[in-house]
Amino acid sequence: MQHLVGGISSAGRTVPDLNGRRFLVSKAQGPYVWDDQGRRYVDTALGFGATFLGHTDPEVAQAIHQAIDKGSMPAYAHALEEEAAASLASHTRNLAKVVFLNSGSEAVHLACRAARAVTGRRKIVKMAAGYDGWFDDVAFGNAGSHEAAMSSNERPSKDDTLLLRFNDREDADLLFAECTDIAAIILEPMMANAGCILAEAGYLQYVASLARKHGALVIMDEVLMGFRLHAGLASHLLGVEPDMATVGKAIGNGVAVAALLCSPEFATAFDDNRVNRAGTYNGNPLACAAVKAAMSVVDTVDYPAILQAGNQLRERAVGAFASEGISICTSGYGTVFTVWRGNKEPTNYREAIAISDPGFTSRLHVELRRNGVMSMHSLYGRHYVSARHDEHALALCAEAFAGTARQFAT
Ligand SMILES: Cc1ncc(COP(=O)(O)O)c(C=O)c1O
Repeated sequence: MQHLVGGISSAGRTVPDLNGRRFLVSKAQGPYVWDDQGRRYVDTALGFGATFLGHTDPEVAQAIHQAIDKGSMPAYAHALEEEAAASLASHTRNLAKVVFLNSGSEAVHLACRAARAVTGRRKIVKMAAGYDGWFDDVAFGNAGSHEAAMSSNERPSKDDTLLLRFNDREDADLLFAECTDIAAIILEPMMANAGCILAEAGYLQYVASLARKHGALVIMDEVLMGFRLHAGLASHLLGVEPDMATVGKAIGNGVAVAALLCSPEFATAFDDNRVNRAGTYNGNPLACAAVKAAMSVVDTVDYPAILQAGNQLRERAVGAFASEGISICTSGYGTVFTVWRGNKEPTNYREAIAISDPGFTSRLHVELRRNGVMSMHSLYGRHYVSARHDEHALALCAEAFAGTARQFAT
C-alpha cells in the first residue's frame, strides 16, 4: 500500500509516468534536476516558480546551513527576523511592513482577514480563473472550473467570494454597482495561473482606482510574480500602488516562506490586535536566513538579460515548431511563459479556454521530457527561466523544443 495520499503532497505537482516509471527527483542544482536514475534535465518548472535564483543557490544554501546549526525553531524573537524583513522591505517601497508566513496561501488568507478588519466589510473579489492559493476565501473559480468561465449574466459567488472578469473594465464597473460590501479585490499583475494572460495597458490601474473610489482595498497577489520582472514587486514596475501585497516563492528561493506586505499606517491593524496573526513556524530562522540571502542575491541579478534570454527561448520554440509546419505561440514574460497551440496568445480567459488543448499540453510535457527538459504538466502550466539558466541550459532547452517539434510533426 502506498501511504502518501495520491503519491505526492500537492495534487498540482503530479506528472505522468513515462515508460512505466515515476519521475522521482533525486537532486536539483542551478537550472537542472536529476531523476532517480541519474538522468539530468533542464528544469522549467523550478519549484513552481520558487527557485528563481536556480535550484540550491549557494549563498541561500549556506545561509540556511548556518541558521540550522544555531537552532531551527526558537519560539522567541531572533535577530534574523527583523534583518530579513528589512532586506525584503528595502525592495517594496511604501509597503515597508512585513508579516512572515509559511506559504502564499497563508499570506493571501491573512491579507483577506486584514482587509475585512480594516474596512468592516465582508466580500472578497478575486479574478475568475485566477489562483490565489488553496484556502477557502479564494479557492473558488480557479482556471478550469465551471464558474471561472463566467458564462451567464449572474456573477459567480460562493460564501463571501465574488468573481470578476480579468481585463474587462465594464465588468469591474458592474461589480461595484452591484455590491457595496467589498472589502478588497485581490489580483495578480499577470493572470499567471490561467496561462500567463497579461493585463491590458491601464487595466490594473483602472481596477485599483475604481476599488479605492468605492472604499475597497487592493491586494496584489505577487506570490508568483514578485521578484520575477525586477528586484521588487511587479505591480510597482507596472505602475500600480496596492494597499497590500503578498509575496512568496522567489523571496526564499525554494524555502517555505511567504510574506504579507503593507504600509506602516495599515500595520496598526496588526499592532492593536484588530487582526489576529499566529503561526508556529512564521518567521523561523531558516526562512529568514533564506529571505535575507535571496534578497542580497536578487540585487546582483541582471533582470533585463534574463528576460531577454527567456524571450529568445520563446522565439526559438515558436520557430522550431514553425519549421515543422506547426503553429504555436507563447504568452507572458521571458522568466515565466505559457505555450499554446495556434498563432494568437489569449488576452482573456475566454480566449484561453478556446485555444487550450489538454492533448497538446500533455504531449508537450512528455516530448520535452524525452528530450531532456522537465516542465509543468497542467493545462495552464508555465515554463520558468531562472537567473541560472545560462546559455548552455537555454541551448539545451531550445534543442529540446526542436526535437519535440519534430515528434509532433511525425
Ligand atoms: C499567485 C499565487 N498566489 C498564491 C499562491 C499560493 O501559494 P502557496 O502554494 O505557497 O500556498 C500561488 C501558488 O502557486 C500563486 O501562484
